[in-house]
Amino acid sequence: MRTDTPQTIYRKDYNPPTYLVDTVELGFDLDPARTVVANRLTLRRNPAAGGRAIELHGEEIELVALRLNGKTLAGADYTLADNRLVIHEAPDDVVLEIESVCVPEQNTTLSGLYVSNGNFFTQCEAEGFRRITYFPDRPDVMAKYTVMLRADKARYPVLLSNGNLIQEGDLDDGRHYALWEDPFKKPSYLFALVAAKLVCQEETFRLADGRDALLQVWVEDGNLDKTDYAMQSLKHSIRWDEEKYGLELDLDRFMIVATSDFNMGAMENKGLNIFNTKFVLANPRVATDVDFQGIEAVVAHEYFHNWTGNRVTCRDWFQLSLKEGLTVFRDQEFTADMIGTDTGRAVTRIDQVRTLRQHQFPEDAGPMAHPVRPDSFVEINNFYTVTVYEKGAEVVRMYQTLFGVDGFRKGMDLYFERHDEQAVECDDFRRAMADANGRDLTQFERWYSQAGTPVLRFEGRWDETAHTYTLKLIQSCPPTPGQPQKLPFHIPVAVGLLDAAGNDMRLVVDSVDRGATAVLELTQAEQTFVFTDVKEQPVASVLRGFSAPVVLQGSYTDADLLHLFSHDSDPVNRWEAGQRLAMSRLLKLAGEAAAKGNSGASLNLDETFIEAMRKVLVDETLDPAFREQALLLPSEGMVAEQIDGVDPLAVHIARQFIRADIGARLRGELLAQYEANLTPGAYSPDAASAGKRALKNIALSYLNAAPDDESVALAQRQFDEADNMTDRAAALGALIASRVPEAADALDVFYQEFQGEALVVDKWFMMQAAAPTTDVAAVRALMRHPAFTLRNPNRARSLVAAFCMNNPVQFHAPDGSGYAFWAEQVIALDALNPQVASRLARAMDRWRRYAPALQEQMKAALQRVAGQGKLSNDVREVVTKALAN
Ligand code: TRP
Ligand code: ZN
Repeated sequence: MRTDTPQTIYRKDYNPPTYLVDTVELGFDLDPARTVVANRLTLRRNPAAGGRAIELHGEEIELVALRLNGKTLAGADYTLADNRLVIHEAPDDVVLEIESVCVPEQNTTLSGLYVSNGNFFTQCEAEGFRRITYFPDRPDVMAKYTVMLRADKARYPVLLSNGNLIQEGDLDDGRHYALWEDPFKKPSYLFALVAAKLVCQEETFRLADGRDALLQVWVEDGNLDKTDYAMQSLKHSIRWDEEKYGLELDLDRFMIVATSDFNMGAMENKGLNIFNTKFVLANPRVATDVDFQGIEAVVAHEYFHNWTGNRVTCRDWFQLSLKEGLTVFRDQEFTADMIGTDTGRAVTRIDQVRTLRQHQFPEDAGPMAHPVRPDSFVEINNFYTVTVYEKGAEVVRMYQTLFGVDGFRKGMDLYFERHDEQAVECDDFRRAMADANGRDLTQFERWYSQAGTPVLRFEGRWDETAHTYTLKLIQSCPPTPGQPQKLPFHIPVAVGLLDAAGNDMRLVVDSVDRGATAVLELTQAEQTFVFTDVKEQPVASVLRGFSAPVVLQGSYTDADLLHLFSHDSDPVNRWEAGQRLAMSRLLKLAGEAAAKGNSGASLNLDETFIEAMRKVLVDETLDPAFREQALLLPSEGMVAEQIDGVDPLAVHIARQFIRADIGARLRGELLAQYEANLTPGAYSPDAASAGKRALKNIALSYLNAAPDDESVALAQRQFDEADNMTDRAAALGALIASRVPEAADALDVFYQEFQGEALVVDKWFMMQAAAPTTDVAAVRALMRHPAFTLRNPNRARSLVAAFCMNNPVQFHAPDGSGYAFWAEQVIALDALNPQVASRLARAMDRWRRYAPALQEQMKAALQRVAGQGKLSNDVREVVTKALAN
């Protein structure tokens, strides 16, 4: 727990380090109660910085000894205060020897060196290395590491660190050692060690240049039946990066280690990726299709960091998106390529758009809004956000949209040619893209510096005598905290025009044939583009493929949307048209429900909409995966974002009404699709099978939104008979949603069967936490369940965060009980793990959007947390910003 007053750190204050580190030799005597760390570093004065003071960070560690060039330093030679160790005057070349002690078993923050299930793990990004030893813990200090690990051999038979294993052997007293050497310079945040009782699946893999690499996936004993998919994903990732970008694995050995106590998804430590078990362990019995997809994506993401993040790293943490946005883009493209088909690619793109809208747009419109490259922060851990990651990936994607796949590759090649083994800025990546493609990207910089989601409005006018179609594009961007005014962005707008038959017209702009889709470049606040030779009134398909992260507005009629929903050759916009049709109904019905005091009585859904849903449901020419996406309504959260003074109950009633109405009026079609999309035979997580299951299971969920004996029996049968978690969890979800008594029994059966599988127990908690039938009292009861603990992040998220974020009706209960619960849990979690607490704290971000009576209570809850004397910087920053903005 930090006790000093939170300091804001500004990007403009960047100063290069006074000393650079060439080598680091670390010696660990691992003991959960008292680990001794010996650190010997060679430093060299940085001529680019000036100054003779050596500045080291250190947090929650005890300094035991400090020697400079062989001489023990006297108290007057250095200052140790505020988590900083400053040596006042040093010569040009320095050998520093530091001995310190930490207590891993008491480290509940999961940052630094900690114990999980009796095993040692580290997490150093962003600023965890300073919790292990004194060091200039900043990413622009890159050094070569040699690591000696010593520990009890029986308790910790496996000793791992970055790079290559140089030596290992036995010591006295039942201890043993391992010596590791990382041949590459790296920043301290990529350091890792594991000392544990684990087992591994391993194999050698032939790299493109003919070398053999040893690949390992390390897990706890008993989990070797769940490592195949991670290993397979790793091999696919290695192959893909070789083929797509010419980037090879630069080590002889690559390790993945799973731990059940982890703050995030996974971590890209050089050669030793450490993972949340959620993104490693899978077999059909315990993991869903979505889990399999998550594993493939996260394994790829961490592997791709080896080049985009590790070989080329960030100068400072404001540049985080340099590695994260780029690496998310790379893992997105990998996922699309693994599916391979055009519609498969489109479905992954639709997933990305949904994530962006559901999570990033609200962030960009709320109190924590920040540019992709932030200008300031209090706690960097609060900036591992959907903006830095997902919007950052959209910004990278726009280069590819502007320059094509080949142009993008040229930019990547130049980036590595210029910056390998350097710590650089987002500007350096943009410059490489510009220079490789001979383009001026000065204005494009605004995507990095301006927060907020731009609004793009279009107006189209067909001239029936001139046969022209004039498309006017107008952009604006709402103010965000600290940025009242915005300048126009450079926006690639992919456009198509559909004729009356639904076919793409050929686009001619300035006498140039642009094919079926033209990427227009909007750089002004307002610009018009004229398409010539347009012989009939077209329907415009604007922002195809979601070519920029903006909110698109246009005066669509239902007829236009139905036309696009039936015919658009761009699957993303085809889906988008359906979402617009649904959103207009959701908003209308939510308004009506609210006006009728949320009785839900006499709501009505038009035949036009039902008919559109019917058509897409039964269209056998469309991929099942796409049909599922098209049938999935915008979430309650997305609807709430569109309403000022929102009443979450009205939104819930409206959405439930539509779901039930679809379930009732399309009963026959839903049953038929359920049958048609069964996947008999052995389970396979491939995209085609997963798509069928998704369509079948959304059909089941609609049927049970208006339950009758048949639909309940169908869900019960699927629950009883399915051999895979995707179908079992979907069936259980359908039973819970249908509110039938069978649900309670099924939940019991499920728990009994899977109580030994932590990740499935998380699902069990999560399904209950998010059910609209689960109120605060029920959540409190679940917290008393023997399997619940606040100390494990996955478990805490599965119940507490799932309730606060995914159960809007109960969380926003009019009596404020949900908010009181939130405040209580944020405070309790903060004492254990500030990073997890701070993410939960963000459940209140959008408090100003709610109905006045709710707003008042949300504000009171925020004030209650803010008024706590003992609060981490993490949570303090979030609640302070929420109250201020
Ligand atoms: N760099 C990791 C990734 O995106 C993110 C991460 C893992 C992280 N663990 C963390 C960030 C802990 C902050 C704190 O791949
Ligand atoms: Zn990452």
